[in-house]
Formats: sequence, structure tokens, C-alpha cells
Amino acid sequence: MARSDLVKALIRSHQQGDDVGFQSAAQDLIQDERRKRHDLVADQLEAILEDHGRRRRPHQISSLRPLPKTRDDLPLLTLEEPRMTFQDLVLPLDVVGVLGSLTDEFRKRSALRAHGVAPRSSVLFVGPPGCGKSASAEAMAGELGIPVARVQLATVVSSYLGETARNLEQIFSFLDVGSWVLIFDEFDMLGRERSDRADHGELRRIVAAMLQVVEDHRGDSLFVATSNHPTLLDSAVWRRFDEIVELPAPDEDARCAVLELKLRSVRHEFDMMGASKSMKGFSAAEVEAAALDAIRLMVLRIDKCVGEEHIAYAIERGEERRQIVNSSQG
Ligand SMILES: Nc1ncnc2c1ncn2[C@@H]1O[C@H](COP(=O)(O)OP(=O)(O)OP(=O)(O)O)[C@@H](O)[C@H]1O
Ligand SMILES: [Mg+2]
Repeated sequence: MARSDLVKALIRSHQQGDDVGFQSAAQDLIQDERRKRHDLVADQLEAILEDHGRRRRPHQISSLRPLPKTRDDLPLLTLEEPRMTFQDLVLPLDVVGVLGSLTDEFRKRSALRAHGVAPRSSVLFVGPPGCGKSASAEAMAGELGIPVARVQLATVVSSYLGETARNLEQIFSFLDVGSWVLIFDEFDMLGRERSDRADHGELRRIVAAMLQVVEDHRGDSLFVATSNHPTLLDSAVWRRFDEIVELPAPDEDARCAVLELKLRSVRHEFDMMGASKSMKGFSAAEVEAAALDAIRLMVLRIDKCVGEEHIAYAIERGEERRQIVNSSQG
């Protein structure tokens, strides 16, 4: 596209309030500057764009194009503004390092490509429930100031046989415009699907097709799959991801840090490490739920701070919930 057309596309998308079109036009302009070896200008434009992304109000997302749907009119995607960044999560240092380098590569993707190197763009998060897999994917989008596109995997694969490829095509042609963190939650569902079907090569074909399109997607989106049943995915699938990150259940120190984080906006006076010890086996999501229960109790009782009594009640409630879940799972 000629430079004047790039500028026109940029202004037009801004006037129409088309966030997605705006991001895409801005990326095209940056690529154009890189092609002309104007790296300084390209870096400055990237920094402005990132700042613009961070300042956007949450949940404000608009696209002039209709969302991709199945033949039966079921949506294949939902679009969201990320509500968190890395600061909202307690993660092991090595995980923070990997996530930080992935987001960094994404930011500097045009510079990497100018050197003939592709940025890593696909990652599989594995780990037990409630330990931050989906939240980490969202936080990567939050750090980058780009929207989340969540794929409704059940809808993609469970419609008519042979429709999966068409559904994927629909998704990726929609996502061709703009930059996204594309989240496939419960990716192992494909593994389960596979055993139900006669064709055992299907899983590999679907995953290969997905990752191929991600690669062809100009590297302008990050692809994140999550699974808490990774054994359902075979090694051929694992190998297709640029990175595999394990998000473990939180230990005592991590539970304490999650508790502190979730109580940061209220006064609290109790033995946090003691509370963390009592929450043995709790996931980060369960620690969060306990913190919120404790705050609710404090507010309802018109107390001034979260104390031993509130947190003890919340932990007991958490234990009860865990027992119900465990017994219902046999
Ligand atoms: N490591 C963490 N630090 C802080 N909060 C966390 C962490 N992990 C989870 N949470 C909180 O718990 C909520 C649920 O976590 P999340 O949805 O990321 O779990 P998950 O690993 O994707 O679980 P599932 O396997 O059930 O999908 C998050 O929105 C977040 O508020
Ligand atoms: Mg999840």
C-alpha cells in the first residue's frame, strides 16, 4: 500500500471508532517504516501504540466486522479487553521470565523480522485448575495493550463433521486484521474429541492447521492454549508449540503472596503466613475466593479491617467448597 493510503486508512479507522482497523493500519505503517530502514521512527511508533493500548478504557472493544459464526449461527469467538497485567498475578520467577521474554519479542517483532528471525508466537500453559493459566494469557494481552480473542473450542470442533476446517478458516480470516492474544482454553478437549472419532490423525491435523495459520498470521497475534489434562495431548502436539510453560499449584509462600495481593485494597491485621499454612492444597483461585469472602464478612459486620476471625471464617468456607467439589468428582 502506498504511504498516503496507509495514512488514510489510519485516519479513517480512527474516525469510525474501529479499534481493530486502527491497530492494523498502525502496524502496516510501522512495517513500512521498517522496510525503509527507518528503525528509530518504527520504534517510536511502536512505543506510542503500546502506550495507546495501555490507556484504553477496559472492556471497550469495537470492530466493524461481524464476528465469525458456525453454519448454525453460533459465535466461534468472543472479544474482550484484558482486565489484568502481570502485576495482578503471583507467578514463579522462571514463569515470569518466559512470559516477559514472549511479550518483549512480540513488541519487537518487526525488528526481529528485519533480522530474519521470527518471534515466538505460540505457547501452551499446563497446570492444575485455578493456578493462573487463563489469567496469564489475559495478562500478556494486558501488558501488550491488545485485545483477547477467546476461541469457543467446543463450538469449533463439535459442529458438523468436516466443518472444523471451515470454522478455523473463519476465525483466522477475522483475526487477520489487527493484533490479538488468541486464547484456546481447555485445549485438551481436542484430545478427548480424538478418542471419540475413528480418525486418530484428526487431532494432529487440526493442531497442525491451527499452528500453521498462526505462523502465517504475519506473527501479529500471540496464540495461547491452556490445558489441565496435558496427558491427553500427545508429544506431536506438544512439539508444535514454541513454548510450554508449567503453572504449578501455589506453595505456602505463593499462597501468602496471593492473599496479600488480593487484600491490597483493604486494611488487614492477621497472621498471613499462618493463614497460608491453613490453606494447604488451595489453588490461587481458591485463595482469592477466601480473601474475597473475608472482605465481604468485614463489610457486612461493619468492621474496620480484615482480622483473624474474618479470615478463619473464609478459610473454613473454602474448605467446605473444596470438599463438595472433591466429593462430586468422586
Ligand atoms: N497465580 C495467580 N496469582 C494471582 N491470582 C490468580 C493466580 N492464578 C489464578 N488467580 C486468580 O484466580 C482466577 C482464576 O484463575 P484462572 O482462570 O487463570 O485459572 P486456570 O489455571 O485457567 O484454571 P482452569 O484450569 O480451571 O481453567 C484468576 O482470574 C485470578 O483472579
Ligand atoms: Mg482456564
